[in-house]
Amino acid sequence: MTGTAPVVGVVGAAGAVGSVAVTELHRRGRHTLRLAGRRRAPLDALAGGLTATGSAATVEVVDLDDADALHRFCAGCDVVLNCAGPAYLVEDRVARVALTAGADYVDAAGDDVLWEQVRALLAGAPERTAVISAGMMPGLSALLPRHLAAALPQPPRALLGYLGGRDRFTATAAADYLRVGEGFGQAGAALTAGVRQSLPTRTDVELPFFPEPATAVPYLSTELERVTRDLGVTDATWHSVFAGPHVAQVLRQPPTGGDAAEALRRAAELDAFGQATYQLFVVELTTAAGDARTLVLRGSSASALTGAFAAVAVAALTGGNLAVGLHLAGEALDPQLAVDLLAGSAAVSDLSVFDGEAAHVGGHVEEAL
Ligand SMILES: NC(=O)c1ccc[n+]([C@@H]2O[C@H](COP(=O)([O-])OP(=O)(O)OC[C@H]3O[C@@H](n4cnc5c(N)ncnc54)[C@H](OP(=O)(O)O)[C@@H]3O)[C@@H](O)[C@H]2O)c1
Repeated sequence: MTGTAPVVGVVGAAGAVGSVAVTELHRRGRHTLRLAGRRRAPLDALAGGLTATGSAATVEVVDLDDADALHRFCAGCDVVLNCAGPAYLVEDRVARVALTAGADYVDAAGDDVLWEQVRALLAGAPERTAVISAGMMPGLSALLPRHLAAALPQPPRALLGYLGGRDRFTATAAADYLRVGEGFGQAGAALTAGVRQSLPTRTDVELPFFPEPATAVPYLSTELERVTRDLGVTDATWHSVFAGPHVAQVLRQPPTGGDAAEALRRAAELDAFGQATYQLFVVELTTAAGDARTLVLRGSSASALTGAFAAVAVAALTGGNLAVGLHLAGEALDPQLAVDLLAGSAAVSDLSVFDGEAAHVGGHVEEAL
C-alpha cells in the first residue's frame, strides 16, 4: 500500500451497495476515496454528504465499457472495489483493468465463475491480492457459520440456516438474483450425512426469530458445501426466506416472455410497501454431543449488508490481514475481525450468539412456554 491512507477507488459508488460501502469506509476514516459511476449527479450528492462529515472524496464519471477511462481511474488506487452490476454482465472487466493498473481488487459480488476468471488474471499478476464474493450471500453467509463455530466447545456436526426477510431488490440485484443457479448452488437440496437430498419448499411457515410467517426455500450453495467441509459438518440445511407473498409467487412462477427481473423488483416493492425492510440471518450449529449455539444477525437490507461487508473486506485487505493471492471474502477473512468491524455498522442492528437451538431460543412465545 502507498502512504498512510490507502487510496480506494469504488466503481458503482452511488448504487445501493456502493453508497453503503463508501459510507462505511468513510466512517472509519482510514482511506482516501475515489468514487466512480456513469452518472455524475448521484456521485456528487454522495461525495457532498461525505464532505459534510469528514475528508473529501473525489468523483470521476467512468463507464466501465470505456477501458481507457477505467484504467485512468484505477491507476494510483491501492484497491479498487467493484460495486457496479449486474455482476453477470460486469464479469471480470473491472478486475482485469484494476489488476493491470497495479491495484488490488475487491468485488461485492461474484461467485464461482468470477473466481475462475480472477484466478486466471492473477496468474499474470502474482504480487496482487483479490477478494471476491464480499456480499451478503455469498460472503456473510460463509463468514457467520465460521464465526459461530468458534463459540462451540467441540467442532460442529450439523448446521441449520435461514437467510432472508422482507426487502427490496434493485433492478440490478434482481437481474443477478434470477441468474443465480447452476454456477452457485441448487434449490431444494440439503446435506444429510454428507449426501445430497431433496427437501421441499415450505410456505406460510413460522421460523425462529422471524417476526412473520414466510416461505422457506432449501438452498445448497457451493459456498455452503465448502464451509461445511471445512468445519467438518455432515448435515446442513440452509433456507432462503421470503416474507412477502409477491416475491415468493414470482420466484415460484417466473414470468415467461416478459422482464422477469422487473417483475421480481416490482413484487419486492409491493411486499415492502409501507413496512420496514429487514434481512435476518439465523445460523444454528450443533455438535455430535448435542451442544447447540445460534447466531442471529439482523440487517436493514441485502444491499446494506453487502455494502457493509464489502467495506470490511477492503479494510481487512488494506489492514494487511490477507495474504497475497485470491480469496473468497466469507471464507478468508478472520471472522472475529470482520464481526467486530460489522458490529459498528449502521447496516447491522443486532448480532447475537445464544446458547441452544434456534427453535428453542428464537421460537414463538406460545411454543417456548
Ligand atoms: N451478494 C449479495 O447478497 C448482494 C446483495 C445485493 C446486491 N448485490 C450485487 O451488488 C451489485 C450492485 O447492486 P446494486 O443493488 O447496488 O445495484 P445499483 O443500485 O443498480 O447500482 C449499480 C451501480 O453500478 C453502476 N454502473 C452500472 N453499470 C455501469 C457501467 N457500465 N459503468 C460504470 N458504472 C456502472 C451504476 O451507476 P449509474 O447509476 O451511474 O449507471 C450504479 O451506481 C450487483 O452485482 C448485485 O447483484 C449482491
